[in-house]
Amino acid sequence: MAITTTPKRTLIVGNWKLHLNTSQASLLLHRLHERIKIYRDIEVVLAPSMLVLQPLSVQIDRRKFRLAAQNAFHKDTGAYTGEVSFAMLQDLVHYAIIGHSERRIYFNESLEMIREKVASAVRNGITPILCVGETKEENRAGETKQVLHDQITSALANLTATDIKKIVIAYEPVWAISTFGGELAKPDEVKKRMDFIRHQIADLYGKRAADRVRVLYGGSIDHDIASGYLSIEGCDGVLVGGASTNYQKFSGIVDAAYRLRYRDGVE
Ligand code: 13P
Repeated sequence: MAITTTPKRTLIVGNWKLHLNTSQASLLLHRLHERIKIYRDIEVVLAPSMLVLQPLSVQIDRRKFRLAAQNAFHKDTGAYTGEVSFAMLQDLVHYAIIGHSERRIYFNESLEMIREKVASAVRNGITPILCVGETKEENRAGETKQVLHDQITSALANLTATDIKKIVIAYEPVWAISTFGGELAKPDEVKKRMDFIRHQIADLYGKRAADRVRVLYGGSIDHDIASGYLSIEGCDGVLVGGASTNYQKFSGIVDAAYRLRYRDGVE
């Protein structure tokens, strides 16, 4: 079954992880503001630490950038010391990264917790960027499809077909993330995985939903190699870790996205 994908705005997401305090983040945003233009067909999203979201939201030019949370708690309010809920982030962020492998591995986030978080984000009007991907061991054992299937079906189980259309799925093989080995995935392999992800969505929610879902790639992306992944058919953007905290590299990735769209005549 072939799934046609209509071109969408290219989504470039910078996941700053546990880097950049408030003043460092503010300085980086200032430099990015000067360098990055307003693009009709490219959406640039920054995911700073929770602490930095509020000050950045005041500084940000919303025509150029959107904000994402790196995580949040699925209950809206209650006696949950130390947590911040999606409900509290509603007015601050458009997106939330959910199910990142660092959270699955270091913080033992289960399939069930991730399902609750996805549902809570959607309930609160925040678009989940659901991260899925297999470990090296799972890849070697030929379990990649099973892992992706389980992560996707479980995370999206509480959603309707209408909810699904707004979801972003980031395929991030754990072994390709810089801090877990940083092996470069071959674009033709990535395409197969992205097609598989879309087929999973089509099986669950129909072809139309599968077309509407945006699928990103993440894993050691920088300005030199971004276009190799951005030009994969059906790839709607990239999720960038390390390189997103570097002004030159991150703006170089946005430039690469711009060049591709211009070359492809989408502009
Ligand atoms: P790197 O780009 O540093 O490999 O990180 C990828 C990632 O985890 C983005 O969420």
